[in-house]
Amino acid sequence: MMTAKSNSQTRRALHSPKSGFLWGASTSCFQIEGAAHIDGRGDSIWDVYCRQQGRVKDGDTGEVACDHYHRYAEDVALMRDMGLDAYRFSIAWPRVLPTGRGAANEPGLAFYDRLVDALLAANIEPWICLYHWDLPQALDDVGGWQNRDIAGWFADYAALIGRRYGDRVKRFATFNEPCVFTLFGYGFGWHAPGIADKAALHKAIHHVNLSHGAAIDALRSAVRDVSVGAVHNRQPCYTATPGPDDEAAARRFSVYWNDAFPHPQHFACYPPALAEAIEPYLRPGDMAQIARPVDWFGLNHYSPHYIKADSNLLGATFGAPPAEVPRTSIGWPIVPGAFRDTLLDLHRQFRVPIYVMENGTASEDQLDSRGAVQDDNRILYLRAYTDAMNEAIAAGADVRGYFVWSLLDNFEWGSGYSQRFGLVYVDFATQRRIPKASARWYSDVIAAKRSARVSVAAHVPAEAVAAQS
Ligand code: FCB
Repeated sequence: MMTAKSNSQTRRALHSPKSGFLWGASTSCFQIEGAAHIDGRGDSIWDVYCRQQGRVKDGDTGEVACDHYHRYAEDVALMRDMGLDAYRFSIAWPRVLPTGRGAANEPGLAFYDRLVDALLAANIEPWICLYHWDLPQALDDVGGWQNRDIAGWFADYAALIGRRYGDRVKRFATFNEPCVFTLFGYGFGWHAPGIADKAALHKAIHHVNLSHGAAIDALRSAVRDVSVGAVHNRQPCYTATPGPDDEAAARRFSVYWNDAFPHPQHFACYPPALAEAIEPYLRPGDMAQIARPVDWFGLNHYSPHYIKADSNLLGATFGAPPAEVPRTSIGWPIVPGAFRDTLLDLHRQFRVPIYVMENGTASEDQLDSRGAVQDDNRILYLRAYTDAMNEAIAAGADVRGYFVWSLLDNFEWGSGYSQRFGLVYVDFATQRRIPKASARWYSDVIAAKRSARVSVAAHVPAEAVAAQS
């Protein structure tokens, strides 16, 4: 275990202004790697879920995805050409531990060695996320996130990853969007493992929180100068229609969406509205185990939610935004002001450096007759959202980096390959990669910031700064 002193020294070194604002992109293993049954990888709950009829659009699977497992060198070259400072990817737990625990799978570990080394050679900082939703099926068979023992299994996995890559990688996230995979996977049955059960949901929430704390400890023990955090969604939950029913629904939804994980992890207690439901699973010492100090807050944000009352186990679900609110092709509302307000609110509440770990949009991208992709919608979205971020920074939010979702078009969970989120177009028939117009736009933004050697805040229009003050 590192001492408090060495910990804060580490924080200073990694977050010193000299290290600059990081511009990056994010992906996750199940969504891009493919090679699902190669070199000893075990099944994950998403492999099994995809095989179940009617779960994923068009019966799509992660068997091949973007074939990143074999094409990682080409993908790193694309990132280098774009000028990215950093890249967040996740490790496939069943690739390195096919049954989730026990003997490690050397070919799986060696793949991430190759990826990390290629990133470092391209001068791109690797950020590893331990869990982006692909639980080893063998662990689900013994209860998965509903089994309290998983905190120990997850800590062992974290230690393995820390020991293996910690000489070259310093940034680690424990979880990506714990609220989504617990709520959708155990509450609504929309994601793997497809369960809709209140007790299952509450057990999963608590055990994920325990696993987070256990993994933080494991990483701090295994990696010198480590910088750790978790990646959470935070999104304002507005009401779909005025009135007490939707208002109560929006408040309930927001507790599960925004607070169920950051609140215990940062403040060592569950939000009052959740405390009673978690109580049966709580043991002495749990809250201290969960609330381990972290070095940063990873934020995923795409849009606000418009929530309506429902008969599901939460009494709340997604509703439609008002007609005047523009939406992306996947139907998500475009409200950059909500992003600015979320960043400011995060800063006020949590007081740790913020990294935007996902922001971006789906768009109906098509190859034109010249073989190019002119994704103007994405450029407009990214410009509006990065402007909103700059406003938040100018108003005092401590934002240290911004990662676009996503580097590549990829497997978008229940939507399969029907939704394209990438800066780079993937022709899934041939696996050809074609950087879209947005990739060139992003590359220009990064180059301009770098050559001007100024902080992003300096680019905020004067009127936006005035509006904030
Ligand atoms: C986020 C997920 C990511 C991707 C984007 C569009 O909720 O973390 O894997 O699906 O949405």
